[in-house]
Amino acid sequence: MIKDLWYKNAIVYCLSVGTFMDANGDGIGDFQGLMRRLDYLHGLGVTALWLMPFQKSPGRDDGYDISDYYAVNPAYGSLGDFVEFTHGAKQRGIRVLIDLVVNHTSDEHPWFQDARRDPNSKYRDWYIWSKKRPAHADTGMVFPSVQKSTWTHDSRAKEWYFHRFYDFQPDLNTSNPEVQAELLKIMGFWIQLGVSGFRMDAVPFVISTKGADVTKPREQYEMLRDFREFLQWRVGDSIILAEANVLPRTDMQYFGDDGDRMHMMFNFQVNQSLFYALATADTRPLAKAMDKTEARPASGQWGIFLRNHDELDLGRLSETQRQKVFDAFGPHKEDQLYGRGIRRRLAPMLSGDRRRLELAYSLMFTLPGTPVLRYGDELGMGDDLSLPERTCCRTPMQWSTEPNGGFTKSGKPIVPVISGGPYGFEHVNAAEQRRDPNSMLNWMERIIRMRKEVPEVGWGDFEVLNTGDDAVLGLRYDWRNNAALFLHNLAHEPREVAFSIRIIGDSDDRLINLLSADHSHAGDNGKHCICIEGYGYRWYRVGGLDYLLKRTDF
Ligand code: GLC
Ligand code: CA
Repeated sequence: MIKDLWYKNAIVYCLSVGTFMDANGDGIGDFQGLMRRLDYLHGLGVTALWLMPFQKSPGRDDGYDISDYYAVNPAYGSLGDFVEFTHGAKQRGIRVLIDLVVNHTSDEHPWFQDARRDPNSKYRDWYIWSKKRPAHADTGMVFPSVQKSTWTHDSRAKEWYFHRFYDFQPDLNTSNPEVQAELLKIMGFWIQLGVSGFRMDAVPFVISTKGADVTKPREQYEMLRDFREFLQWRVGDSIILAEANVLPRTDMQYFGDDGDRMHMMFNFQVNQSLFYALATADTRPLAKAMDKTEARPASGQWGIFLRNHDELDLGRLSETQRQKVFDAFGPHKEDQLYGRGIRRRLAPMLSGDRRRLELAYSLMFTLPGTPVLRYGDELGMGDDLSLPERTCCRTPMQWSTEPNGGFTKSGKPIVPVISGGPYGFEHVNAAEQRRDPNSMLNWMERIIRMRKEVPEVGWGDFEVLNTGDDAVLGLRYDWRNNAALFLHNLAHEPREVAFSIRIIGDSDDRLINLLSADHSHAGDNGKHCICIEGYGYRWYRVGGLDYLLKRTDF
């Protein structure tokens, strides 16, 4: 086993260049602005960034509709600025992952324009066409209610084209070897410019068979190995983090039995049951989800997240479970999206309750995998429900009490900065939180610092402890002769739990609290008896603080 797989113990921070910081005052965030904030990110302690799409794009799906894979959106800067940025990140030891959106292009991409214009164009077969409207054209939409169909008639081509997402995002014919070669070329290009890998968008659809006659799409998993092989040949420590909201029984198809496909996957199964647990204080489905997603190759890793730039997709919960999460965190129609999810940011979902926010992030940092934090969450930023669809949780970063939260000097930010009310930049901003030792930001910085010193979570084997209380999740990790143990009380009232632990080697039975001074000794019955306040959490080391003297090399 390679010891220094960096993504196993990374802290990932995801952001959009366009809403982070605007250096040239045109109202749109840019790479220069992001560069100037690298020290902020370094100070927060994150070790990797995931950048949302920043390539040339008409911007009808926040950049997920690309019209040139080899160019930076001019509003964000130039390729030169991009390289300055990756260099600046590297100097601070921060890795950069970028979105790889190759299931579809923008309909304004020259390939598509050429394809529709000329049936003999070489690009015609880069997309999926049908002479007639396929019978199943009104099925398989990813954005139901907003998107009416997966096939749209093109007046120029005089044929129908396939689009899994919005109609302005024609699907690429990813089975076409020429398209596959281009896809590798795109990866090769950005890897050369200093990125450490890709967050691959919509992976199940990228590898799916597509076509008018395809009624039961099939995933062509072998493609995943080709992507990985190419990437690792070019730069050995680069990775792919797959966005694949799939059932646990196919997880290993994505990781590859020999760890020869995707390095990382977002754990959507755990994400949904985590929100169910937060809503109901019933941690059983969460434990089950962890169990079902436990299997992964030694080099594979889960990405653990709370909220991201999309809606909180609850599609994998049962109807009654989903309803409970809606009732707790998004009861109004305007909170919900696509009939299956909640579009709010985390802080407003939890009514800004600091205890619950800490509980949620403490879980994110200690569930099996690598945490992926969303920009602004370190401040407890809110959302703007007057904005359409998912834009509501994509508002500019709130830096200070200066006009527009210090995001821009322009009076017209690309997306309005949240102003006024409990989540406005006047109250929620980085500058003020820096000065307050008890702020969310400083809490986050401290917990990240601690999390980096508990590599057991990223690397170790976990087991769910029997705490005797469904509201209290107990997790233990073992790795290289060290062990860490975490307790989370999801109920709002205090709970007392009792359990015994396995001692490592010749160490004693103490549980050393890493966040405060109340350590625990086993009682005469050999059990630890711990009382946790409502929404409380505990991070312990098993045995003494001499654990590092006892850590083994294997
Ligand atoms: C993924 C992205 C989402 C985007 C879609 C189409 O689901 O997360 O934001 O709209 O792909 O590219
Ligand atoms: Ca700008």
